[in-house]
Amino acid sequence: MFRRNPAITSLLLLAATFGLYLWSKPSTAAPAPAPTVPPVAAPAYGSCAPSADGIGRTWMGREIAQVMGHPGIGWLERDNREKEEAPSKAIALLELAPDAVIADIGAGSGYYSFRIAPKIPQGRVVAVDIQPEMLDFLKKESARLGMANVQPHLGAIDGVKLPPATLDAALMVDAYHEFDHPVEMLASLRSALKPKGRIYVLEYREEDTKVPIKPHHKMSEAQARKEFEAAGFRFVVNKPGLPWQHLLIFENP
Ligand SMILES: C[S@@+](CC[C@H](N)C(=O)[O-])C[C@H]1O[C@@H](n2cnc3c(N)ncnc32)[C@H](O)[C@@H]1O
Repeated sequence: MFRRNPAITSLLLLAATFGLYLWSKPSTAAPAPAPTVPPVAAPAYGSCAPSADGIGRTWMGREIAQVMGHPGIGWLERDNREKEEAPSKAIALLELAPDAVIADIGAGSGYYSFRIAPKIPQGRVVAVDIQPEMLDFLKKESARLGMANVQPHLGAIDGVKLPPATLDAALMVDAYHEFDHPVEMLASLRSALKPKGRIYVLEYREEDTKVPIKPHHKMSEAQARKEFEAAGFRFVVNKPGLPWQHLLIFENP
């Protein structure tokens, strides 16, 4: 019979244990790299010390203005607005087809929405705002005036939340300068507009010192063009003739 040498037996046992340890040890090799997803370009918003009417965030050289809260409804609905801003003239300059679907973005109390709606009897106004109190006001006004073609719609600070290619046009009256995510808002609007859809931007003229509005709530034509063209829109025209505002028209290419 083969006689077992105790020293060899111990050595064999030791080798087997070490082999088992190596086999069961978790690998320390670096894991395979995860597939890379190209990053979405984040808009390079800047910052500044917040001024009295601003939010301390900058875009393309301007400080974004504070949002006008719903207690400002009285000012939006003031009796002398027609005399000061000539909204009926602005609406006539839009030249909307009777079946147009237009989003009034930053609609507020719906001052413009309810004046546009009768001009587009086969169309509708989607009145978009981010303040639920504004939408409550809009709903009550819709019922009071019996206007079924004004549709209140809750948007978000970074998007209009409307389906793609459903709008013929969009209107922003005294609102764009308050959007705290202008890049995301314009990107979402480009998607919601049909090809060749138009954006009508009404902003108080920064170039005109006689316009009695706080500086953060005004915008120059050059600034608006810089921002809308960077978002991919084509500048069409700045229609003259309003007492206080620019009427800038851009097109979805
Ligand atoms: C100064 S008010 C103008 C209201 C209306 N366009 C008018 O001229 O009577 C601006 C409105 O824009 C809204 N607003 C601000 N940021 C917005 C956003 N990202 N999307 C939609 N509405 C927004 C505010 O809630 C406010 O009601």
